[in-house]
Amino acid sequence: MYVCLCKGITERQLRAAIAEGKTEFKQLKRELGVSSQCGKCVPVAMAILAEENAKV
Ligand code: FES
Repeated sequence: MYVCLCKGITERQLRAAIAEGKTEFKQLKRELGVSSQCGKCVPVAMAILAEENAKV
């Protein structure tokens, strides 16, 4: 599933990046470009990040 349509970022890519240690939103933004355009993906990306961070 696409999380960020502007940048074509999938949920899988996002979870993989978080697993690699990009556990802060600004890191995901910098590395993947998520939320760097329209910003509509921010709530979903934040929710995925919170979910992954809660696992560890
Ligand atoms: Fe992610 Fe637009 S959908 S910046």
